[in-house]
Amino acid sequence: MLALLNHIEIGYDEGGTGVPALLVHGFPHDRTLWTPQLQGLTAQARCLAPDLRGFGETTASPPYSMDQYADDLVGLLDGLHIERAVIAGLSMGGYVALAMWRNHPHRVRALVLCNTRAAADTDEAREKRRNLMNVARTQGSGAVADAMLTGMLGKTTRSKRPDIVNSVHRMIASAPTEGVVGALQAMMDRPDSTPTLATIDVPTLVLTGDEDAIIPIEDVRSMQAAIRGSSLEVIASAGHLSNLERPAAFNHVVSEFLAKLTLE
Ligand code: MLT
Repeated sequence: MLALLNHIEIGYDEGGTGVPALLVHGFPHDRTLWTPQLQGLTAQARCLAPDLRGFGETTASPPYSMDQYADDLVGLLDGLHIERAVIAGLSMGGYVALAMWRNHPHRVRALVLCNTRAAADTDEAREKRRNLMNVARTQGSGAVADAMLTGMLGKTTRSKRPDIVNSVHRMIASAPTEGVVGALQAMMDRPDSTPTLATIDVPTLVLTGDEDAIIPIEDVRSMQAAIRGSSLEVIASAGHLSNLERPAAFNHVVSEFLAKLTLE
């Protein structure tokens, strides 16, 4: 589906009924990242999976920032007349979820922070992003996919699930170059969200995979420890894309979290 909001077109998929849940993809993904959740969580939630600005079918148009991505998502909620939603973000989607909490807390019913961290980029991470920007500009998204694929997936998935390996490569390789470069700059510029964590007072589930090579588990643990009342689930044999690599385990944990929410 396409919605025209704040002068950009937002592509999104929608399915299910229940508490609205906004599923925010990471970098450099698109909304198809959430296909297993659009199939497996729809009994409990009205799942909305948008493409972030510059990815999939959503217009590639500056400015790019975590705050801008969050504003775009609020525009989508407004357009659909949804007051509050569970915000589930994976990796960069988690950075956006934290921006959403900081800037629009009254729109957040609960948070699901997957394979993500609160800290800003280190100097070393910024240098790597500059190099990747260069790859994107000079060789395109196919080369970005080649460079990122190994880190993106856990070793179990890489050895046992060539279908997932191929589909993730295809997804990254099809990302618009402008969106990729814009998101890299946006991640480099994002603020440290660590001070935000103590302000979170909605139910929060933190999830990761024990084979995530991009976000060290210590970062995830310290983020979760700083969010009052939150819980942590570590999915075995899953890497950075835990929702795609072990969808049944991921959906089970998120379903239980959503079920508790509806009882509150
Ligand atoms: C992502 O999956 O969104 C990225 O790996 C996040 C990052 O590079 O910081």
